[in-house]
Amino acid sequence: MDHRHRSSQCWKRTFRYRPRLRWPCLILVACSCFSSQLISPTAQGREPEKTSRKPRLAHLPRSVPTPRDNPTTAAKVTLGKQLFFDPRLSGNNKTSCASCHLPARAFTDHRTTARGQQGKSLSRNTPTVLNTGLFKHLFWDGRANSLEQQALLPIRSPVEMNQGLAALETELNAVPGYAGQFRRVFNSDVTQTGIARALAAYQRTLISEPSPLDRFLAGEEKALSEEARRGLEAFRGSAGCIRCHNGPLLSDGKFYRVGVSWKDKGRQSVTGKPGDAFRFRTPSLRNVALTAPYMHDGSQKTLEAVVTFYYRGVPTTTPDGIPLDVEPLLGNSFSEISDIVAFLESLSSKPLKVTPPRLP
Ligand code: HEC
Ligand code: HEC
Repeated sequence: MDHRHRSSQCWKRTFRYRPRLRWPCLILVACSCFSSQLISPTAQGREPEKTSRKPRLAHLPRSVPTPRDNPTTAAKVTLGKQLFFDPRLSGNNKTSCASCHLPARAFTDHRTTARGQQGKSLSRNTPTVLNTGLFKHLFWDGRANSLEQQALLPIRSPVEMNQGLAALETELNAVPGYAGQFRRVFNSDVTQTGIARALAAYQRTLISEPSPLDRFLAGEEKALSEEARRGLEAFRGSAGCIRCHNGPLLSDGKFYRVGVSWKDKGRQSVTGKPGDAFRFRTPSLRNVALTAPYMHDGSQKTLEAVVTFYYRGVPTTTPDGIPLDVEPLLGNSFSEISDIVAFLESLSSKPLKVTPPRLP
């Protein structure tokens, strides 16, 4: 916004290193100020145009963007699906991605927090992998910036799959079915990069079918019950949920402190910023009725409990007095709670038909 400040910074930085640029640059800046005065004499004094549009709900796209270095192909997706279901990706050959992201449970595990190898409990709840191709940052704290980056972390994690990546490459290279597919898909042996890319490509295909909300947004009034329609109104209006839960995922992908617990520093452990303490990424609400329990620590067992938390349970500050990003909806009527729950139930879609693959 403050372009004068920015150009004076550029000015100083440029001249410290390149004194010869001083005169051409001075003339350039002078000209650009002058010409903007000429073209639009009022532009200087005008408020910058507001770019923030009202948050909206939207239907899911049919396909998600893919990174340039990992285009989706049918053969890669087939390979990625095998890897997703293959327990040989874990140290003791007993845990696959699908052990925690169960297709029959909307790709979650219904546990409070995930259970890793040797039955150890992890500290966080298992989110679904459905529609995750649309997130910019993955995990509750956003520590991975792509599905490719994300994929190797659970494999390596001692409490999740506990599998060294070099050993995994050797193990899978010894399986002729995998060696052949890697050669065809990546023109190489089995590599960790290839494993990550194939897993990412498979997960990009996991996009939910349209839900009643999508049909409603497309103009089919009856797709939502009266109760759910009232819930939608509250969600977009008096309850203000849409401020963070918006777009096709019903998540803005950003990080907030809503006051669920003070055990896990969340986003702060990634950015190191004290201001990010206890912040977590807004979860998607697609299929949320199928993915209990809720919140990063699985501490809320039902949707009713989550919504009631927003109405009465949100604390005022953290124990250190840091304000939260939400306030309890004390002025709102309790009757909204069941309406909003009915609305959240309208976000479920027909489960994807997933046939476990034959492993090579
Ligand atoms: C032991 C259970 C477990 C296993 C095995 C597991 N995951 Fe997860 N997964 C989790 C948990 C728990 C999280 C959330 C962790 C966090 O946010 O810190 C998660 C998060 C994710 C996410 C991010 C979702 C989001 O909304 O940001 C993706 C994608 C994912 N897992 C894919 C995989 C893949 C691919 C594999 C296999 C290579 C795998 N997972 C294996 C439990 C598991
Ligand atoms: C300031 C942003 C913000 C607002 C406003 C907000 N949420 Fe959330 N919501 C979040 C975040 C962040 C989480 C995850 C918190 C955590 O796990 O610690 C969350 C979690 C949830 C969950 C749990 C989802 C899951 O998979 O675990 C539901 C359901 C939910 N919110 C519904 C709502 C409803 C309904 C409203 C309005 C009454 C609302 N939210 C308002 C940011 C927000």
